[in-house]
This record gives sequence, C-alpha cells and structure tokens, in this order.
Amino acid sequence: MKRPKYSVIKKATIGRDSRVYDQVNLYGCKIGKNTKIDSYVYIEEGVSIGDNCKIRPFVFIPTGVVIEDNVFIAPNVTFTNDKHPRAHGEWTRLNTRVKKNASIGAGSTINPGVQIGENALIGAGSVVTKNVPDNAIAVGIPARVVGSRPAPDEQNGHLSSSRVRTSR
Ligand SMILES: CC(C)(COP(=O)(O)OP(=O)(O)OC[C@H]1O[C@@H](n2cnc3c(N)ncnc32)[C@H](O)[C@@H]1OP(=O)(O)O)[C@@H](O)C(=O)NCCC(=O)NCCS
Repeated sequence: MKRPKYSVIKKATIGRDSRVYDQVNLYGCKIGKNTKIDSYVYIEEGVSIGDNCKIRPFVFIPTGVVIEDNVFIAPNVTFTNDKHPRAHGEWTRLNTRVKKNASIGAGSTINPGVQIGENALIGAGSVVTKNVPDNAIAVGIPARVVGSRPAPDEQNGHLSSSRVRTSR
C-alpha cells in the first residue's frame, strides 16, 4: 500500500489492495482486503473492518466496533461505545457489530452496543438505538424499521436487481 503522507497509521494491519487516503488516523486496528478508507476517518484500537468495505470521509469508529465484509459507511457516520460517558473515571464499553453487506446512511449515529443485521440499510441522519434485523431498512430518530431490501448477489456482494449502477 502506498503510504499516505498526512495520515497517522500505527500498529494497524491493512489487507491487500486496501486504500487509505490522507488525513486518516488508524491505531491498532485491522482492515481487511480491498477496503477503502477515505480522508478524515478516525479508527481506534481493536476495531476490525472486513474485506471490500467502503468507509467514506469523516467517519469515527471507536474501540469495540466490528464491521464485517462488504459494508458501506457513508460520510459523517459516528459510532459510539459508552452509553453514559464522562470525562474521567470508570466506564463500560459496549460493543457494536455491523454485519456483512449492510449500509449506513450519511450522518447517522450508532448508539453503543447495537447489532446492525446482514444487508440492512440505515437511512441518512438516523440514530440507531436498538438492533436492526437482517435485510431491514431502518430510518429516523430513533431508527425504526420501515421496509426491507433484497439480498445481494452473494457472488459479488452487489445488488442483483436491474438497477443502473455507477461505481463509487
Ligand atoms: C431510507 C432511504 C433508503 C429511503 O429511500 P426510498 O426507499 O427511495 O424512499 P423515499 O425517498 O421514497 O422516501 C419514502 C419516505 O421515507 C422518508 N424518508 C426517506 N429517507 C428518510 C430518512 N433518511 N429518514 C427519515 N425519513 C426518510 C421520506 O420523506 C418519505 O416519507 P413520506 O412517505 O412521508 O413522503 C433513503 O432515503 C436513504 O436515506 N438512503 C441513504 C442515503 C445515503 O446516506 N447515501 C449515502 C451515499 S453518499
């Protein structure tokens, strides 16, 4: 991987064909193969991100988050890991998992300790406070299930419908 000049990358494992852009902070995390980490992304220690993911600009991913393969995280998504944060003292970390093929819409906040199901889609600007089932579309504050989306073609992780596609 070509090392981005203005990124801070320490103790991170980055898989083959993954791309990390400039102004990124990666510490002690694991990134799979063929995954894109855009500029201004901050990923903390112990985070695991799978293969073929896209993490768009200005995303925050703290310790305790696991993102499986083929996941799309839109710009300005914030993950969290402490339900009752304070500046000092003890705290309890809650872990979050985003299952394979899920997508999280722009500007969403993922509260601590939730699981976002396989192929689920979170609408833009949502706050996810509870687990989201597989294939569900969930939107709003708090995010509620409003529909479902078709399962992707397992062979390539993309939707198998006849929609016109452009690459991102
Ligand atoms: C949730 C989403 C998938 C719905 O798309 P859709 O199925 O085409 O639905 P529509 O746009 O027709 O909207 C249907 C209804 O949901 C509402 N709605 C759409 N998106 C919403 C959202 N993010 N939050 C709350 N309500 C939403 C619409 O206002 C509409 O309400 P109405 O029936 O009262 O008029 C889509 O709006 C969305 O948020 N996608 C994520 C976009 C994104 O972040 N992309 C990142 C790439 S840069």
